[in-house]
Amino acid sequence: MPNEALRIAVVGGGGHVGLPLSLLLADKGFAVRVIDCDGTKIEALKGGRFPFLEEGGPELLTKLLGEKTPDQLLFTTDSALVADSDVVILVVGTPVDEHMNPSLGPVHAVIEQLRPYLRDGQTVILRSTLFPGTSEKIRATLEGARLKVGVCFCPERIAQGYALRELQDLPQIISGSTPAALAAARTVFSSLTPKLVELSMTEAELAKLFTNSWRYIKFAVANQFYMIAADKGLDFYRIRDAMVQDYGRASDFPLAGFAAGPCLFKDTMQLAAYNRQNFPLGHSAMLLNETLPDFLVERAKLSYSLKGMKVGILGMAFKPDNDDKRESLAYKLRKLLLYENAVVLCTDPYIQDPGFVPLETVLASCELLFIGCPHRAYRSISLDKHQVIDCWGMVRK
Ligand SMILES: NC(=O)c1ccc[n+]([C@@H]2O[C@H](COP(=O)([O-])OP(=O)(O)OC[C@H]3O[C@@H](n4cnc5c(N)ncnc54)[C@H](O)[C@@H]3O)[C@@H](O)[C@H]2O)c1
Repeated sequence: MPNEALRIAVVGGGGHVGLPLSLLLADKGFAVRVIDCDGTKIEALKGGRFPFLEEGGPELLTKLLGEKTPDQLLFTTDSALVADSDVVILVVGTPVDEHMNPSLGPVHAVIEQLRPYLRDGQTVILRSTLFPGTSEKIRATLEGARLKVGVCFCPERIAQGYALRELQDLPQIISGSTPAALAAARTVFSSLTPKLVELSMTEAELAKLFTNSWRYIKFAVANQFYMIAADKGLDFYRIRDAMVQDYGRASDFPLAGFAAGPCLFKDTMQLAAYNRQNFPLGHSAMLLNETLPDFLVERAKLSYSLKGMKVGILGMAFKPDNDDKRESLAYKLRKLLLYENAVVLCTDPYIQDPGFVPLETVLASCELLFIGCPHRAYRSISLDKHQVIDCWGMVRK
């Protein structure tokens, strides 16, 4: 079947995962309906404004708006458009709740929202990261509603900000409840990447959680080694550089830094909940990663009286060269410094916040600086006149 013949609705299509995927699928010739409940985002997209930082995103949006008819690419808040789609991709957020258990409500709510518009013969592809067993539950719910709708779980594994490139480079894990559903997933994803890897739905759900937990644990190892070295008055990065130099077996040893953002923490906690909280490695990783800001503040207190002191934080996003502040530990760092009665000046080139100040103001006002996020823009500035607390190893490089 030619791509043009397949209509795809992407629900949550204005989000960090949904939007790059929607645009790439439209670029590959599918007829795509981008459905998102956030009307402001939808209006921005119609006007050609990409709502967040994404490499190549604005250019692709402009190109497609110039090329495509509304039947080929449509931005809407209206869930009813699911009715005329062959494939419905679901990619809404899947957070953990205040008890660090998965919030399954939003995913089931979106199934309820779409149910009046689903019809026999469609395929629902779940792309949000899901608590294991959720895909099967959704399949059973739809079957209980007497809908002959195939269900797939095809996890997203891109690094935020680089989705357009990575969607075409990474292998795609696919799984489906029926051979027809799997065939639909194959049609959609083989248009993006040559490598498809097939699992059962629960295996695929676990593969995604294992992937993110593994990464989160690796960051925690680096963070603990950083803290050990710092406590002993040693430079972690001198030791790390020596350790990895021309030594392949340590080549994936990460830098230290704030392991935060909307995915790694919550996916590790989802895996812990799946195993009835019997996940000591995951819990230790969480304690280490989440307390790195506390460690840095305690170290600062050894040399400075923070009360009333002007302290700067460079970078508030959760990862470099990105504008996403979701679950950023730089905010936790600010909170801890405020608790010590420091006067905290924050700056970030990508985040608009009336409480932030320009970089020049921070540099001119503060003797002590923390690197909250090592944006590339900071690498070229001279910080020789400042005391810098930098767990990321940016300043010395
Ligand atoms: N951000 C990443 O880099 C990344 C990577 C891999 C996987 N994931 C997973 O992908 C999922 C989505 O993450 P995200 O970062 O794209 O989230 P996001 O918040 O950026 O996007 C979700 C979008 O869904 C929309 N939405 C929410 N409820 C809706 C509803 N009922 N109907 C229509 N639209 C609705 C929101 O308005 C938002 O635009 C999560 O499960 C996440 O764990 C994210």
